[in-house]
Amino acid sequence: MGNVHVLDHPLIQHKLSYIRDKNTGTKEFRELVDEVAMLMAFEITRDLPLEETTIETPVTTTNTKVLAGKKIGLIPILRAGLGMVDGMLKLIPAARVGHVGLYRDPETLKPVEYYIKLPSDIEERELIVIDPMLATGGSANDAIQSLKNRGAKNIRLMCLIAAPEGVEVIKEAHPDVDIYLAALDEKLDDHAYIVPGLGDAGDRLFGTK
Ligand code: PRP
Ligand code: URA
Repeated sequence: MGNVHVLDHPLIQHKLSYIRDKNTGTKEFRELVDEVAMLMAFEITRDLPLEETTIETPVTTTNTKVLAGKKIGLIPILRAGLGMVDGMLKLIPAARVGHVGLYRDPETLKPVEYYIKLPSDIEERELIVIDPMLATGGSANDAIQSLKNRGAKNIRLMCLIAAPEGVEVIKEAHPDVDIYLAALDEKLDDHAYIVPGLGDAGDRLFGTK
């Protein structure tokens, strides 16, 4: 089974409180999501493997370490995942970015895929699927399946907030995928919104509605 990691760094938790607050406006919401994404990128990359290299400092030759192994691909789920990309790129600037466009049909609550554009070498990359919200899990489940259908082998999922229902869906459908969260909330409401959650992530990021 994939592991669930709640990233409880105090700065992440502090900023998440302001993100949740309904009185936080679009500009501040966007800035805070960007900052939290950067902090989460720091935590999620903690286990990346290193390899030895030799360099010359101005003083001497020395053995030191650089990142080894797989290159990273960031896969935001449109729209709201876009709000987390720049923050992550601040720490992982060489990452490639692929996009999966999905929206949740308000009637059926099922995800509808309308766009996909990925780096050509996704099978060689460590992919991080990014979406602020994991509610029913339908969108992330579909996005991950789309990536696997195209050859992806190493996938992690990073969300700000998840409902237990969504986590269970991903654990069941994709036991190979580790999930990284800033918070695991209580439940879904009757409209499949996360409680307490933060409302509609896309609308709050982009000032729609
Ligand atoms: C939101 C959110 C997730 C999805 C989560 O997107 O950003 O992608 O809902 O819900 P789920 O786990 O039940 O699938 P939405 O469908 O509102 O589209 P948007 O990002 O374009 O606003
Ligand atoms: N999508 C959102 O943006 N928010 C939720 O709470 C659930 C799905």
